[in-house]
Amino acid sequence: MTKQAQLHCFCLLTLYLTTGYGQEGKFSGPLKPMTFSIFEGQEPSQLIFQFKANPPAVTFKLMGETDGIFQIQPDGLLYHNKTLDRETRAVHRLQVSALDAQGNTVEGPVPVTIEVKDINDNRPVFLQQHYEGSVRQNSRPGRPFMYVNATDLDDPATLNGQLIYQILMQLPKVNDVMYFQINNQTGGISLTPQGSQELDPLKNPSYRLVVSVEDMGGLNEHSFSDSAPVVITVKENIWKAPEPVEIEENLTQPYPIKITQVQWNDPGALYSLVGKENTPRFPFSIDQEGDIYVTQPLDREEKDEYVFYAVARDEQGKLLSKPLEIQVKVKDINDNPPTCPSPVTVLEVQENEQIGSSIGTLIAHDMDEENTVNSVLEYRIVDQTPKVPRDGLFLVHTYHGTIQLVVQSLHKRDAPQYNLTVEVSNEDFKTLCFVQINVIDINDQIPIFEKSDYGNLTFPEDTAVGSVILTIQATDADEPHTGSSKILYRITQGDSEGRLEIETDPQTNTGYVKLKKPLDFETVAIHNIVVQAENPEPLVPGVQYNASSSATFRLTVTDVNEAPQFSQQVFEATVSEAVAKGTKVGNVTATDPEGLDVSYSLRGDKRGWLRINPVTGEIFSAAPLDREAESLYRVQVVATEVGGSSLSSTAQFHLTLTDVNDNAPRLVKEYTGLFFCYPLKAPGSLIFEATDDDQPTFRGQHFTFSLGSESLQKDWEVSKINGTHAHLSTKHTSFEERVYNIPIRISDSGRQPMEGTVSLPVTFCKCVENRCFQPAAHMPGIPPVGMAVGILLATLLVIGIILAVVFFRMKRDKGQHNAESAQASEVKPLRN
Ligand SMILES: *[C@@H]1O[C@H](CO)[C@@H](O)[C@H](O)[C@H]1NC(C)=O
Ligand SMILES: *[C@@H]1O[C@H](CO)[C@@H](O)[C@H](O)[C@H]1NC(C)=O
Ligand SMILES: *[C@@H]1O[C@H](CO)[C@@H](O)[C@H](O)[C@H]1NC(C)=O
Ligand SMILES: *[C@@H]1O[C@H](CO)[C@@H](O)[C@H](O)[C@H]1NC(C)=O
Ligand SMILES: *[C@@H]1O[C@H](CO)[C@@H](O)[C@H](O)[C@H]1NC(C)=O
Ligand SMILES: *[C@@H]1O[C@H](CO)[C@@H](O)[C@H](O)[C@H]1NC(C)=O
Ligand SMILES: *[C@@H]1O[C@H](CO)[C@@H](O)[C@H](O)[C@H]1NC(C)=O
Ligand SMILES: *[C@@H]1O[C@H](CO)[C@@H](O)[C@H](O)[C@H]1NC(C)=O
Ligand SMILES: *[C@@H]1O[C@H](CO)[C@@H](O)[C@H](O)[C@H]1NC(C)=O
Repeated sequence: MTKQAQLHCFCLLTLYLTTGYGQEGKFSGPLKPMTFSIFEGQEPSQLIFQFKANPPAVTFKLMGETDGIFQIQPDGLLYHNKTLDRETRAVHRLQVSALDAQGNTVEGPVPVTIEVKDINDNRPVFLQQHYEGSVRQNSRPGRPFMYVNATDLDDPATLNGQLIYQILMQLPKVNDVMYFQINNQTGGISLTPQGSQELDPLKNPSYRLVVSVEDMGGLNEHSFSDSAPVVITVKENIWKAPEPVEIEENLTQPYPIKITQVQWNDPGALYSLVGKENTPRFPFSIDQEGDIYVTQPLDREEKDEYVFYAVARDEQGKLLSKPLEIQVKVKDINDNPPTCPSPVTVLEVQENEQIGSSIGTLIAHDMDEENTVNSVLEYRIVDQTPKVPRDGLFLVHTYHGTIQLVVQSLHKRDAPQYNLTVEVSNEDFKTLCFVQINVIDINDQIPIFEKSDYGNLTFPEDTAVGSVILTIQATDADEPHTGSSKILYRITQGDSEGRLEIETDPQTNTGYVKLKKPLDFETVAIHNIVVQAENPEPLVPGVQYNASSSATFRLTVTDVNEAPQFSQQVFEATVSEAVAKGTKVGNVTATDPEGLDVSYSLRGDKRGWLRINPVTGEIFSAAPLDREAESLYRVQVVATEVGGSSLSSTAQFHLTLTDVNDNAPRLVKEYTGLFFCYPLKAPGSLIFEATDDDQPTFRGQHFTFSLGSESLQKDWEVSKINGTHAHLSTKHTSFEERVYNIPIRISDSGRQPMEGTVSLPVTFCKCVENRCFQPAAHMPGIPPVGMAVGILLATLLVIGIILAVVFFRMKRDKGQHNAESAQASEVKPLRN
């Protein structure tokens, strides 16, 4: 036998022995299209199938992608004589025909497909020996900046070809922190969150990784792996705020004008600008290159600085990083003319002013930036009208704007007024401002009264305050409406109490003497008044006020009957509320200006507590006082003239009552809801609070508590918590289901303690959810169920007896006519 034949025999034998190959079925059958799956890498000479031929077919023929591997025996046994390799050919498409003795095809050809199943016979291999990449500082974590890639010839649909990437090593690795991560499926390398924050090219410009790739999904111990080094360069983050920008205002170039730029680390970012503050105008834009433009002329005088943010987003609109602050300063140009302080600046100069005197200052203004050449102003006089007695009488300081007299003193008779035109200029602009200078008279005339004595005046003492009692007049020959001619009147004698004042009419210098305070006959009956007239401006040297500048009048005050006057409007007194009836509690005094006697009385004594001595003004208690009713008792006292016209006046009397301990303590409220759950499981306690209507002492209230009855001590206990609160506790648990009224004695801590006994109702009741549950039958006054049933039975019994008696009577009285009345008289008493 040839080796081949031996092989066939051996294999066939094996097949027959192990699988029952002789019969039709899994491994043999007629010629028909078939598909077989065979693992690659197996021993050669494996049987695949035994085709059975039907006459006249005697032999078989194999065609197609046999690759010198597949063979068919004349008897129809299909086998492969070489190891299959999926990576060479994954599917072999064969055709099998059945031939007759003459070699003619009698059946087929039918397709027979051999699928080669993968085994893990290939290592994954990185496509590159080593990798290099770079990453920007602060790049977004998790976003791959490079890929490593490996291939494995094995079927990617099976685990054999499923690759898992890993980082084996990162060098350097500070504090054991990984800055890089790899997507185990795609091989994409990205930064970890720490890497995104901490990577810094200045600290460490490059990192070395070792990445590995493993097949079998990394799950199998028979997996293959490969590794490769990766060198990563860290590059500086270029997403940085640019330097502040300065732009000149009102630029004339065509807009938009590029002023600065920003750039995201990778291409493709979407840029936008966001204002920091809400401004009506936002004259900036950004394009998709990150270039920032100003879109309109700026005006420093409107806004001299802009701050806004440049924002970079990814395609999904997510912020790539922190917005950058952009600062734009607007540079001044000289685009504003000087402005005059007012259309005409009016100044005054006195006739006799000396050469060099400063007359006043012209202060023009410039809107351009201060302390720059753009806002520096220069002053120059360009015209003087009139030019008498000559031109150039005035000088203006070039920078200060101060105007001075330069040639001579002015005389009003030469010209009462000069108009100056002052040119105010900065670098590029000139403005004309107008100054009017008035030459004013000097104060060389004194006021002269029209008469020196205004005679005798008589006014009653009750003349109203504000009344004009006299009109006076002085005149001044100086220039009208100046401080040299204006007159102020001053009273120099006869009014030490300041009862008078004098107002001057600014037009006519007429003086009106008015009452400022009431006159008082009893104090001063006759005033000898001296009035002095003066100018607000000082007189020139050599001129003085003389007797013609003053005048006199005599004011006589006449008496008027006036009401008595109290020494004060409110009298106050304090007494203890416990003072005995008739105790003096205070006194008031009033005097009559005319010296008449005064009689006192009270008004508004609504509680009738007080009495006043009509002669002395002493006030006495007239009844028991009670602080708890009125702590501050207010009444009016009336003082009436005795005789005369019986004028009267009133004042207040306030009596403060101080507390004495005259109230027993009481419970702070009506305690209706205190209860214990019945049956009581364990002794319990309740809290209650006491109060007192007396004024608490400065230490607060201090009550003592005790049971009101000795006999209760076996069931109850009262214990103080603090000055106002106490516990009521049960001493045992056997209480009945009812209301107990517990008398409690409470004493206060006054110097003479007051004691009160109160009753604290405590209910023992069945509880539902810790709330007192009281069925209707258990309400106080309604008997409990057992008793109620008893009453019902008794009632029925009584009714029964009545009925029995009635029937008996009816039977017995049959025929009797007064049956009804007898029945009624029997029933009535029983029913009640
Ligand atoms: C396998 O069969 C082919 C014919 O299909 C033949 O050429 C080849 O030599 C055979 N190989 C072996 C190892 O028997
Ligand atoms: C890896 O390489 C294979 C073959 O070259 C290619 O098909 C695949 O797209 C690559 N994968 C990546 C993530 O580059
Ligand atoms: C691959 O990565 C995913 C997601 O990060 C993870 O759930 C999975 O366990 C990883 N597989 C292996 C084999 O490490
Ligand atoms: C800008 O300049 C033009 C002339 O250059 C001027 O007419 C205009 O008033 C200026 N605008 C502002 C706001 O200064
Ligand atoms: C000065 O100018 C004012 C107007 O501003 C005018 O009324 C007045 O007459 C002028 N005075 C002189 C002396 O020219
Ligand atoms: C004013 O009264 C006084 C005294 O009563 C008297 O001497 C004087 O002459 C009177 N003056 C006038 C102007 O009546
Ligand atoms: C006061 O002075 C003026 C001139 O200033 C003079 O006319 C008048 O007579 C003087 N009066 C007295 C009382 O001296
Ligand atoms: C009350 O009378 C006394 C003397 O009787 C006196 O000193 C005191 O000033 C009077 N008080 C008032 C308010 O009039
Ligand atoms: C007294 O005790 C009660 C109950 O504990 C408490 O509510 C209250 O504030 C206390 N009072 C004072 C003044 O401590």
